[in-house]
Amino acid sequence: MSLKTSEPLSIVVVGASGDLARKKIFPALFALFSQDLLPDDFKAFGFARSVMDDDGFRTSIMEHLTCRYVPGEDCAAKMDAFLARCHYISGDYSSSDSMLDLYQTMQAHETTDMVNRLFYLAIPPSVFIATAESLGAAGLVACDDGSPWSRGVVEKPFGRDRASSDELAAALGLVFTERQIFRIDHYLGKEVIQNLLVLRFSNAVFEPLLNCEHVAEVHIDWSENLSLEGRAGYFDKYGIIRDVMQNHLLEMLALLAMDQPQNLTAAAIRKSKVNLLKSIAPPELEQLVTGQFSAGELDGREYAAYTADKDVPDDSLTPTYAAVRLHVDNPRWKGVPFVLSAGKGLASRCTNIRVRFKQKGGGIFELHDSKLANNELVIRVQPDEGIHLSIVTKIPGLGMKLGAHDLDLSYGRVFKDSIIPDAYEGLLLDVLRGDRSLFISGEELSAAWDIFTPALHQLEQKAVRPQPYPFGGIPPELP
Ligand code: BG6
Repeated sequence: MSLKTSEPLSIVVVGASGDLARKKIFPALFALFSQDLLPDDFKAFGFARSVMDDDGFRTSIMEHLTCRYVPGEDCAAKMDAFLARCHYISGDYSSSDSMLDLYQTMQAHETTDMVNRLFYLAIPPSVFIATAESLGAAGLVACDDGSPWSRGVVEKPFGRDRASSDELAAALGLVFTERQIFRIDHYLGKEVIQNLLVLRFSNAVFEPLLNCEHVAEVHIDWSENLSLEGRAGYFDKYGIIRDVMQNHLLEMLALLAMDQPQNLTAAAIRKSKVNLLKSIAPPELEQLVTGQFSAGELDGREYAAYTADKDVPDDSLTPTYAAVRLHVDNPRWKGVPFVLSAGKGLASRCTNIRVRFKQKGGGIFELHDSKLANNELVIRVQPDEGIHLSIVTKIPGLGMKLGAHDLDLSYGRVFKDSIIPDAYEGLLLDVLRGDRSLFISGEELSAAWDIFTPALHQLEQKAVRPQPYPFGGIPPELP
């Protein structure tokens, strides 16, 4: 089946002068355009507060476009052709007059009324509701009755807890129906994470072992060796649990631990994930540890403490690190700890899922080596994508010496001729094709908030002080 859709398309990126739009959305659109995966009649409209003309806007997005799919001399021409389809309108997010300006500009460039419209809300949470309302008031969003369609793409943070998320959902729901909304968690677009379903449900060897009979524990670890890179104002209101754990890490957990969906439809996959999320008990504070980075040194560079950032109050209690031990309360995973950790200002940038299997006891080789290593399945999400299974093997040579070694599916080596797409490329293409399997349903979002809302409220009510750890150093340990 062709991945390309053919109907005329307008993509509106609200918040077009921000980082997300410039560094992720437009480069992904260009990557799709370069591969001829966008409709022939396609236009993009950037909308934001900054005052710019089309040329200024084109220059601002051009610096992040890459020639990965059209290397060589053809790239410049491709970029010109892409940028010629990009237009910019400046205005106020909450003003329906500004949205009417946007509408008029769109109509001036569109070649037909029968045009599909995608609205990507790449805006700060504070203007989310006002923007949706003004888009609705200006009549830009067609009703949900088929063709041509209007769809809205939104990205976390979806609120700060269950109640504010519900509030946001209700406000968005006045403009976009649930079928029209595509909630992005960009981790679901990452290549290795998309492989989780294939790995689990198309191999005979993994699925029978992924349960409490064989698994000792599961770790999902996420780390960044960066500071806040200009995002401290946002981050301080949210913290690492809301920024990363409640969404990216829980999604990985759900895909790893859910039961096999009935089929590959979005409805079936989302149902399996929701069932799994609903069986995770909200953690008590004792199952959680939080940290905040202090000044430190990494790779010869000095880093200031989190609270030294001009956008962070000196007495901020916002965690930049958290670890939690979760339990999935169903027969399949009874007693298996799922340990999630996420932190900024750590020694490296790395995301791993590690499944540690129980030790093989009572086997004939115990006599040779009483400490047989546990098998471990490591799914390396980034960097250096790969899937590794550590096994016990005989070390070549005379006599029977055993050791643990890896069966190694390193993407860089095995798929060296493939380009690993950026997560946003696949996700945007799926929105155009109307495939919701990699997007978060309203029910899933609520289930994810239900897991962390009680602990988040308690941390705030009790003013729990995160434990300091030096930038690039060792974060606090779970009790
Ligand atoms: C975002 C978080 O969702 O993911 C950021 O808000 C984080 O804080 C980013 O840096 C990480 O994404 P990636 O794709 O670089 O791992």
